Amino acid sequence: MAVPKALTVAGSDSGGGAGIQADLKTFSAFRVFGMSVLTAVTAQNSVGVTGVHDLPPEFVARQLDAVLEDFGADAVKIGMLSTAGIIAAVAERLIAHRQTRLVLDPVMIAKSGDPLLRPDARDALIATLLPLAEVVTPNLHEASMLAGMEVTTETDMEAAARRIHARGPRHVLVKGGHLKDSATDLLWDGRALTRFPGARVDSNNTHGTGCTFSAAIAAGLAHGRPLPQAIAEAKAYVTAAIREGFQVGHGVGALRHFVGSW
Ligand SMILES: Nc1ncnc2c1ncn2[C@@H]1O[C@H](COP(=O)(O)OP(=O)(O)OP(=O)(O)O)[C@@H](O)[C@H]1O
Ligand SMILES: [Mg+2]
Repeated sequence: MAVPKALTVAGSDSGGGAGIQADLKTFSAFRVFGMSVLTAVTAQNSVGVTGVHDLPPEFVARQLDAVLEDFGADAVKIGMLSTAGIIAAVAERLIAHRQTRLVLDPVMIAKSGDPLLRPDARDALIATLLPLAEVVTPNLHEASMLAGMEVTTETDMEAAARRIHARGPRHVLVKGGHLKDSATDLLWDGRALTRFPGARVDSNNTHGTGCTFSAAIAAGLAHGRPLPQAIAEAKAYVTAAIREGFQVGHGVGALRHFVGSW
């Protein structure tokens, strides 16, 4: 049986709710064969991140070669990258393997506020990875960093999306998960704006929403769906997974990745 294949390039969350663990659960929920290239290992739970151990860039590159020379990937999701060296290695290998269906989640800080991208790596991400992305999925804080402006309202989100688009990605999806009274996301393709309206779910179980959402978009692309359809389906999925989430741990709880099944 031919199965769509998706690859996540991201960090490990020992708490299981975000990072590659969330991505692999999400790929499976979308009936996609999941593969993972680790960039960093975090010691993390629902309360916070207590340690980050970055992998050497050469070893990240070696994992990418191992996966892409054998399996190939119908879509790639990029999450936590941690250092400028890892960013350079990932960009270089993805170009060498001519990988174009890239969903870039420009992870900078964890929900707990702990840093996941070194400040000096931000410029490397903008210069080398933004131009490769089919779609980049910043939250309000990341949109503000990438666009160099404050982003707190839907009007700001649209302005930021236009500025970020000028830096090279084919689409920009600014996520409104941190808006005050809705959870509406905006997609800008350089010509038209598409709104993905979402009602805010009042829940404490939101650890890994961003990872899950970008992995779900990559899964849709791996199935060959057009980007707007992949986003709409990912949005419905993440909303349901938040609504039915689990209060595991003593801090921010997790999503129910197999929502609908158990
Ligand atoms: N409370 C909520 N209710 C409904 N939808 C939400 C909620 N929080 C986030 N979302 C949705 O989840 C998706 C992820 O957005 P969010 O802004 O939370 O990403 P993020 O900040 O990168 O997440 P993370 O902290 O996990 O990295 C978006 O589609 C957003 O609209
Ligand atoms: Mg995020």
